[in-house]
Amino acid sequence: LTPQDLAGETVLVTAGPTREEIDPVRFISNYSSGKMGFALARMARLRGARVILVSGPSALATPPGVERVDVVSADEMRDVVLARWEQVSIAIKAAAVADYRPARRSARKMKKEGREDLSLELEKNPDILAELGRLKGTRFLVGFAAETCDLLENARKKLQAKNLDLMVANDVTQERAGFDVDTNIVRLLQPDGTEEALPEMTKDEVARHILDRILALRRLA
Ligand code: PMT
Repeated sequence: LTPQDLAGETVLVTAGPTREEIDPVRFISNYSSGKMGFALARMARLRGARVILVSGPSALATPPGVERVDVVSADEMRDVVLARWEQVSIAIKAAAVADYRPARRSARKMKKEGREDLSLELEKNPDILAELGRLKGTRFLVGFAAETCDLLENARKKLQAKNLDLMVANDVTQERAGFDVDTNIVRLLQPDGTEEALPEMTKDEVARHILDRILALRRLA
């Protein structure tokens, strides 16, 4: 029997990519499938939490008992997360939010006739996690860092800049880790400098380790 050690908690998980529309038929996005975030939602629910899963476009089935809210863009994800924020005690941001979006969305499909090249002007999306870090209060806030170089240095910077309680550092260049696979290889970084490198394991197992660590750190706080 799974221990109900998250009973009484409301866990908000973000998952999947965001899509930033260029025109009615095109968008900017990334390779996130939602698997990591859905695993976290499933495991938190199995351990007794109320779980709100805010997901970008993903083909995955909703884990049983999980309240799912589908969003498309970073802006929508931000609105949904902030609207639920009052109810949340633990937030885990596994979503791969697009950092930029087209500065203008074309209402009609952009045509190629008479154009040999095309430049898109991009503007920055809101950094949802940084905003949550400012609104944290007594909540426990977990971020992910998807990196392709200088993993620990970059992940540590984000941990501090976004006022997180735990950072999951993910080198997405490693095989069987990162985007759209069932396994992951991550390091858990704490604000006090402590670090744990987890071996390759399924995303369900990674989720279990993250939840164990959250509970252990909360007990210390
Ligand atoms: O979905 P899968 O296919 O299973 O892949 C899993 C994963 C690789 C997407 C996941 O393990 C992961 O690393 N997620 C974080 C991806 C990411 O956007 O990393 P980042 O380093 O760009 O962002 C850092 C943190 O800030 C993340 O928690 C992100 O959710 C958050 N963020 C980023 C930008 C932004 N505008 N708003 C945010 O909230």
